[in-house]
Amino acid sequence: MNVNHSSNPDALEFFKYGELSVEAIKGGIKGSIGRKIFFYETVGSTNTIAAELAEKGEEEGTVVIADCQNKGKGRLGRHWVSPPGVNIYISILLRPDIEPKDATLLTIMAAVGCTVALRRVTGLNVTIKWPNDLIVSNKKLGGILTEMRTTRKMIEYVITGIGINVNMDSDALPNAIKEVATSVKMEMDKLHSRTEIITEILNEINHWYKILKEKRRPELLSQWEQLTSTLGREVKIILGKETLTGLAESIDNEGMLILRLPSGTLRVIRDGDLTILR
Ligand code: BTN
Repeated sequence: MNVNHSSNPDALEFFKYGELSVEAIKGGIKGSIGRKIFFYETVGSTNTIAAELAEKGEEEGTVVIADCQNKGKGRLGRHWVSPPGVNIYISILLRPDIEPKDATLLTIMAAVGCTVALRRVTGLNVTIKWPNDLIVSNKKLGGILTEMRTTRKMIEYVITGIGINVNMDSDALPNAIKEVATSVKMEMDKLHSRTEIITEILNEINHWYKILKEKRRPELLSQWEQLTSTLGREVKIILGKETLTGLAESIDNEGMLILRLPSGTLRVIRDGDLTILR
């Protein structure tokens, strides 16, 4: 559902205040992810709420959705800008039977689900920047924050938090990120239904999660390779105090980035802040 609000002023009111419908999302859900949804108008962070639900024993597939977050969390301790009425903030509770060392695959899986869904609903050429960024026109449209509780051998639960800028205008962005962040509306000058995008995302994640659970890892990794804009590029990666540059050559079976250093040696990158140089 695309609405050009400049030719339909009523649509603006509808989208701004009323269009996020949990009932409509539930009506469109095809699998077990999203069958149970907790909706909040304002929360600190949907990831925090989802973790509390997980601790209380809530079942896999439960989803937390908020219209607004006042303590939205980004990766590497950053703040996630989360104004009301415009964007998507969701967290999915998963209880995967995989080892903690494979946890990056959950971020890979969520990034694939979000990208396929966003491409289908908006038509934008969304790509994935390793490990978790959703990119369009070289700017960040969304991101994924995977948090989990583990023992040494197994994952107790995972919270997959997804933030996507949908109908936000650039004036809602702090100056520090105006140059590097975008929204669907900023790209297309059109409002889109958050309900429709969330429904598609939950259904796509359901699909790719099933593939991961069925140990069909190569299918997931090859889909990721088709959607990424990172491989084959010269990149800079900040890993705590260390900064590396090199060629992003591939990802391995666990979703780690394989970087070819200027010396020719390969380095496996588990996490970090990646910038594409060229
Ligand atoms: C990133 O830094 O790229 C990850 C951003 C993740 C933001 C989402 S919004 C929903 C969920 N709740 C949070 O507090 N963060 C994630």
